[in-house]
Amino acid sequence: MTKSNRTVNRIAILILAAMLALPAAGCNPLTRIKGWGARALEKQKSAVLIGLCMDTLQEERWQKDRDMFVARAKELGAQVLVTEAAGDDELQNKQAENLITQGVDVLVVVPHNGVTAASIVEKAHKAGIKVIAYDRLINDSEPDLYISFDGERVGFLQADYLLDRQPTGNFVWLAGAPTDFNAHLFKKGNARALKPFIDRGDVKIVFEDWVEDWKPENARRLTENALTRNRDNVQAVIAPNDGTAGGIIQALKARNLSGKVLVSGQDADLAACQRVVEGTQSMTVYKPIHALSRAAAEITVAVARGEDISARINNAVNNNKIDVPSVLIPPIQVDKDNMMATVIKDGFHSYDEVYRNVPFEKRPPKN
Ligand code: BGC
Repeated sequence: MTKSNRTVNRIAILILAAMLALPAAGCNPLTRIKGWGARALEKQKSAVLIGLCMDTLQEERWQKDRDMFVARAKELGAQVLVTEAAGDDELQNKQAENLITQGVDVLVVVPHNGVTAASIVEKAHKAGIKVIAYDRLINDSEPDLYISFDGERVGFLQADYLLDRQPTGNFVWLAGAPTDFNAHLFKKGNARALKPFIDRGDVKIVFEDWVEDWKPENARRLTENALTRNRDNVQAVIAPNDGTAGGIIQALKARNLSGKVLVSGQDADLAACQRVVEGTQSMTVYKPIHALSRAAAEITVAVARGEDISARINNAVNNNKIDVPSVLIPPIQVDKDNMMATVIKDGFHSYDEVYRNVPFEKRPPKN
């Protein structure tokens, strides 16, 4: 075979390989993330610029997310521009546009509204910028990656804990902000745990609603309504996170019911961990933010540099348009019995902070 024939053959093989790969690229989430290197090889040497476009800092966790993400990215030689939209969709869109204009290499988004944030993905892609959905998924669009905790599992752990201690009775079921796709995943997980108990007639959902914008005062108001309607005959409240659990527990306190009605949560906020060891909140779901933010920063920098991150993908989550390649981290159920072995052992909060209001003789041994 002549040299030119060999070249033609090689080109034909390459074209065939590309044709075979093409149909798969649209549907296989793993194929999606391969070969991201085009814009990126030159990035190996130059500094990486990341945009971190956050919804809110309302909950304590988001400050940890921000600080830990930025610190890890810096260690890896990247610079991070952070924006925060305080729950305002329009503002978040503008901030994202601004980050795109500033020429970030990758845009990391915690969307306030999973649906309207789809336009952020579109705009970034038009500018050749990859988008990573951080903690909350972006719907109806094609984000390049989703990195989060297993949301359905979070919801399952919340309801499962309450049902284990209270397998019968009247339950109030509050879900998070309807604009947040996570809230739907948590609710789906709640439903999976609840279903057999409801089907058997052992558990009755006496009140059900969504908590607008995850606001504790909204959760408080809804709980007051639920209690009034049911003449205080409620045995458990499914709280979608620790912030809302705080509002719910205030409503229970006002009727002398706190510590008597089971309440769930999530985030392992300091105030919630204190309530758990003091007995007014039954449990929380601990989501190790250091694991999430660290992994996200490492993956983001790797994406910016065009490195292969396929080994880190462990899942795919559908966002109503595609199966988004995902990295999901398992969450951990926490109550007063394993507080020491989880939240405190990891240094998420200190022993002194968590047990601050517990009399010394009632605290577990420090070591
Ligand atoms: C997060 C929770 C948080 C909630 C309110 C959810 O998307 O997963 O950890 O408590 O938003 O900010």
